Amino acid sequence: MIKIAPSILSADFANLGKDIKDVEAGGADYIHIDVMDGHFVPNITIGPLIVEAIRPITNLPLDVHLMIEKPDLYIGDFVKAGADIISVHVEACPHLHRTIQHIKSHGVKAGVVINPATPVESILPILNDIDLVLLMTVNPGFGGQAFIHPVLSKIKQVAEVVKQRGLNVEIEVDGGVNTETAKLCVDAGANVLVAGSAIYNHEDRTQAIHAIRNNLR
Ligand code: DX5
Ligand code: ZN
Repeated sequence: MIKIAPSILSADFANLGKDIKDVEAGGADYIHIDVMDGHFVPNITIGPLIVEAIRPITNLPLDVHLMIEKPDLYIGDFVKAGADIISVHVEACPHLHRTIQHIKSHGVKAGVVINPATPVESILPILNDIDLVLLMTVNPGFGGQAFIHPVLSKIKQVAEVVKQRGLNVEIEVDGGVNTETAKLCVDAGANVLVAGSAIYNHEDRTQAIHAIRNNLR
């Protein structure tokens, strides 16, 4: 079963509640929340306050993608705000095992993210300790960017290791995912698809989610 995680980065922030309910009704599996600090990435977006406001309006798991420096300082705040999954970038974590243990000590799921230019080898030592791997298929910072195709071979690589080790780790992709690239990612072994503009740039979000799902067959 392939999961779809709409990224609210492309939602209408003046109508965020409606835009979240829309995708929940339309068959989304997670709500993907992009947290940016203006340091790790050249953009500033959402903090724990917004996550807390979103929490009561949806039953879907909140998939929080931290694109921030020193994520350890804020993990507790995002848990308190209602995050269900917290993912951190290897590029931002000099003590990755410590950070992952920190996330798990709060009883939420832990994910590790790698940028397009970061090799898969960087996550192999942590793979047995995490719930989710997120492979960026664009350089993080903005919605609506073009999919970076060479990441497909990295998805395959992760999928093979997950299988070899018999792990229960979700493989998520994020950036430039649309009806065409979604299929490429799933064929390579991804099972969670983040999509921002491919869902929120359409009036009918249910139809946009169905279009992605239908094209996977
Ligand atoms: C990029 C974010 C993505 C972004 C995806 O830094 O991590 O989640 O919202 O947007 P699209 O699907 O439009 O590429
Ligand atoms: Zn994201």
